[in-house]
Amino acid sequence: MRNILILLYLLVLGCKENYQLTEAYDRGKEVYITNCISCHGPDGAGNLLYPPINSRIANTMTLERAVRLISNGSMNMPSVDLTDQEIADVMNYIQNSWGLEAEVITIDSIISFKSTSRNAAIYP
Ligand code: HEC
Repeated sequence: MRNILILLYLLVLGCKENYQLTEAYDRGKEVYITNCISCHGPDGAGNLLYPPINSRIANTMTLERAVRLISNGSMNMPSVDLTDQEIADVMNYIQNSWGLEAEVITIDSIISFKSTSRNAAIYP
């Protein structure tokens, strides 16, 4: 009986996480269309001027970098004025589109990436 209860609990927990990802994905798609699609393209493949963001390497290796680019910009990419929630949503979108799949990214991890990049800027 106890095992069944634990199983049920895990099932409910699992459904909740999927639900959150679906919501974040849908919101993130809107953020992407409004703020990113003009450079990175509808399939994230970029073009001659702008890099692709639709490959696993670009996506997983540069999560922190992506957060930094979006909030601070670089010489080549302008910063995009988004809330932490919108950054989390758009990251969940690009990490789960175009055949990619990744763990849900929380708003908390966006906030912590932002604070590490601030430290990195002060102490390069
Ligand atoms: C004006 C064009 C432009 C817009 C708009 C733009 N980007 Fe970029 N993006 C770039 C350029 C250029 C780079 C390369 C920056 C660099 O290397 O300094 C880049 C780099 C990136 C990277 C890192 C790719 C890698 O492999 O290193 C990610 C992820 C990314 N952008 C996501 C986004 C997201 C998400 C948005 C929307 C919130 C966005 N970009 C909006 C031009 C743009």
